[in-house]
Amino acid sequence: MFKFPGNFLWGAATSAYQVEGGNTRADWWQWEKETGKEPSGDACRHYGLYEQDFDLAKGLHHNAHRLSLEWSRLEPEEGQFSEEALEHYLNVILALRARGIEPLVTLHHFTNPAWLAKKGGWENPGTVKLFLKYTAFILKKLAPQVRYWITINEPTVYVYESYIMGLWPPQIKSLWRARTVENHLAAAHIKAYRLIHETYWRKKMQLPSVSIAQHMQDFVPCVPDFRNKLAASLRHRWFNLGLISKFRRHKALDFIGVNYYSRQRVEVQKWGLRNLFMDICVKAEHRVPETNSSGWEVYPEGLCRVLLKLKGYHLPIVITENGICTPDDALRWRYIEAHLRSIHRAIREGAPVTGYLYWSLMDNFEWHDGFGPRFGLIGIDYPTQQRTVRESAVQFGKVCKTGALEQDL
Ligand code: BGC
Repeated sequence: MFKFPGNFLWGAATSAYQVEGGNTRADWWQWEKETGKEPSGDACRHYGLYEQDFDLAKGLHHNAHRLSLEWSRLEPEEGQFSEEALEHYLNVILALRARGIEPLVTLHHFTNPAWLAKKGGWENPGTVKLFLKYTAFILKKLAPQVRYWITINEPTVYVYESYIMGLWPPQIKSLWRARTVENHLAAAHIKAYRLIHETYWRKKMQLPSVSIAQHMQDFVPCVPDFRNKLAASLRHRWFNLGLISKFRRHKALDFIGVNYYSRQRVEVQKWGLRNLFMDICVKAEHRVPETNSSGWEVYPEGLCRVLLKLKGYHLPIVITENGICTPDDALRWRYIEAHLRSIHRAIREGAPVTGYLYWSLMDNFEWHDGFGPRFGLIGIDYPTQQRTVRESAVQFGKVCKTGALEQDL
């Protein structure tokens, strides 16, 4: 029997744009129209159906839930803040609390208001100030109900997809501009961290826990020669730890939010900066046996390895995302179970993990891949919006209820 520590946070995560539907004021909405990509449309209609969805989470014994707020609903035009949208999110959070579910609230999960994108988005230094105004507006009503804040989801992934690979809006491919955006995101986190803490301190409330959700991969040299080992270590230091170390130095981190999905096999083709940071193994004989439906390797051992490398920060760690898209629900449960074992091993070896949130509570809009990939504990039939609780959700629910994993499962 693998017993997890007491007071462990157990649950699942979502993000506003991926589940709510109808986020017409967001940059992604415009971009879907311009590019002819599969539109997010009604998504899971979670904006209206959240109570029903939280009933399901409660029935599955979740005691925590990570959600995000949609900036473009809360500030549809610059400086015009919507009290109605704020009231909505207060009700969402109260609905979680009424079910005994602890909310972890993300302020920014990849999407921006369209008006902000038009002003240059995160390349514009003024965006840091605008993010703080948005944060201050939210705190006014939500602070008394929220103990865990995640300022920005996966800043490094956002920079990589939107400003290096040029895949997501605004589809830029420039290392120089990527650096500017990363600096602005980092400044926004540090300042928002301080604003959140000051607000709680001024209101004499118990201080909250604030972090980011950092996407981390296990970077493994495919052939362990000097160049590959160097590349793996550089990637770990930039991609996994860069911002975490910076925020620690600025005393702007109360816990570490880790999003873990897979490993990356590092195989550098030739000397060069781009090669050191980007090249991966493409050898046919190195194809991996088990992947998710998007081709990412299932590699649970990597999570333990990543967690052990975070021990030196001496901060609590919450797994803010971990999950698999697959049509094979038995594989989903094997994936969850194997990752929980990996986390348990890391805890036994001294990593202070205090929570696990599966990605995602329900199938949803998987960005440029549309609605194809199925990550959900709960299946969604999009034409009818019918919810179906999957068997993996029931198995995971047993772990959430008992805080333990049977050894022989
Ligand atoms: C993101 C989610 C996304 C998930 C699966 C994470 O990087 O935070 O928004 O759906 O990965 O790709």
